[in-house]
Amino acid sequence: MTRHFLRDDDLAPAEQAEVLALAAELKAAPCSHTPLAGPQGVGVIFEKASTRTRFSFEVGIAQLGGHAVVVDGRTMQLGREETIDDTGRVLSRYVSAIVWRTFAQKRLELMVEGSTVPVVNALSDTFHPCQVLADLQTIAERKGSLAGLRMTYFGDGANNMAHSLLLGGATAGMHVTVAAPRGFDPDPGVLDAARARAELTGGSVRTTTDPHAGADGADVLVTDTWTSMGQEDDGLDRVRPFRPFQVNAELLARAAADPVVLHCLPAHRGMEITDEVLDGPHSAVWDEAENRLHAQKALLTWLLEHP
Ligand code: CP
Ligand code: NVA
Repeated sequence: MTRHFLRDDDLAPAEQAEVLALAAELKAAPCSHTPLAGPQGVGVIFEKASTRTRFSFEVGIAQLGGHAVVVDGRTMQLGREETIDDTGRVLSRYVSAIVWRTFAQKRLELMVEGSTVPVVNALSDTFHPCQVLADLQTIAERKGSLAGLRMTYFGDGANNMAHSLLLGGATAGMHVTVAAPRGFDPDPGVLDAARARAELTGGSVRTTTDPHAGADGADVLVTDTWTSMGQEDDGLDRVRPFRPFQVNAELLARAAADPVVLHCLPAHRGMEITDEVLDGPHSAVWDEAENRLHAQKALLTWLLEHP
């Protein structure tokens, strides 16, 4: 059965651990695995802006011996007159995997219906699972392991990063807190799925509207933009309710000893995070950005080896 990666819990806990171990191996020896030698093609499609995802997938696929066909989805027949599942059927005749940044999660599910090759979510409105693999790799580098660590996300609890950190963190056995303003809560279905995962791994999941409660004793503090791509005109006040959730020196002072600060980037300095914290000694954001490359190479290798 072809494996896909549309959301973080598409990998079982032991599988996530395998991918992260391979990511560390690939970081140490970038060209040691060439599952795409041939070269085989990988379709990499963007319907939203991207810097990190675009560069890391294209370079990573080359390092795996393959060829990335990077396309702006808005220039494809996709969404014009061709259905998503028919697009999946056609692309599967050319490429060994499809990597797609899009809007609704449902669109990725439709691609899976037509595709006979792995489909990878390169960010949707609901999840950003490739980012969270890189986040977990970064935390493991700094802390040595993941299970049992306390990780708090501050910001829009209903966005893709909050959801992926809940699922991905719970899969890794972490204690995940989402600290978000009232009205910006995670999707209840995602919370339930994360709770179910946490029961298997010994992790836990909770939400709070109190940023201080979120910061107290946290080993890892994560934030993200208050306005995700596609939300620019949603009519909500995406500044004032979020101000108390800014990751700044005061919040960081409440954390556990030697905390790790993550941000998937791009950062809005002075909004969700201060310069002092982003550029400070606890920030791992540049390693986190680099690890997109290693984690995605590991993921593609793993998916291609598990048909
Ligand atoms: N973090 C992330 O996905 O960055 P890009 O939007 O630049 O790809
Ligand atoms: N939540 C952000 C992540 C960007 C990488 C967005 O969707 O715009």
